[in-house]
Amino acid sequence: MKRVLVLHGPNLNLLGQREPKIYGRETLFDINAMLKSQAEKAGIQIDFLQSNYEGELVEAIQKAPGHYEYIILNAAALTHYSIALRDAIAAVGVPVIEVHLSNIHKREEFRNTSVIAAVTEGQILGFGKYSYALALDYIIKK
Ligand code: DQA
Repeated sequence: MKRVLVLHGPNLNLLGQREPKIYGRETLFDINAMLKSQAEKAGIQIDFLQSNYEGELVEAIQKAPGHYEYIILNAAALTHYSIALRDAIAAVGVPVIEVHLSNIHKREEFRNTSVIAAVTEGQILGFGKYSYALALDYIIKK
């Protein structure tokens, strides 16, 4: 059975009320519920962690080998500056799919760069909650 860990970074716990024009009205609970049902139908295990703390996300990535075959990661603001997250991804070798709800290339300049992109398997962005669903679909089909 494939096992997937979904990691959500800082402020994603506020989805639904946070800048809804950019991030939509759906809550993190709704997104996780969508992914859980998608995973159940495909017979894969899925676990979730949201953290506002860089170190907690780094530790989750460090612990992933042996427990998960894939990580879906929305690193949120950490995407743009966390070398610690990048190094954790590079260190463990568990493939990571980077996702974003919004198209970070259409937004402020500081969001146009992802310091983690080069150590991920690929990026899916700009499709709202479907960015996560597409990432999971790829893992299921692979
Ligand atoms: C985000 C984009 C980031 O720039 C931002 O800091 C977020 C969410 C997205 O999903 O669109 O918190 O990762």
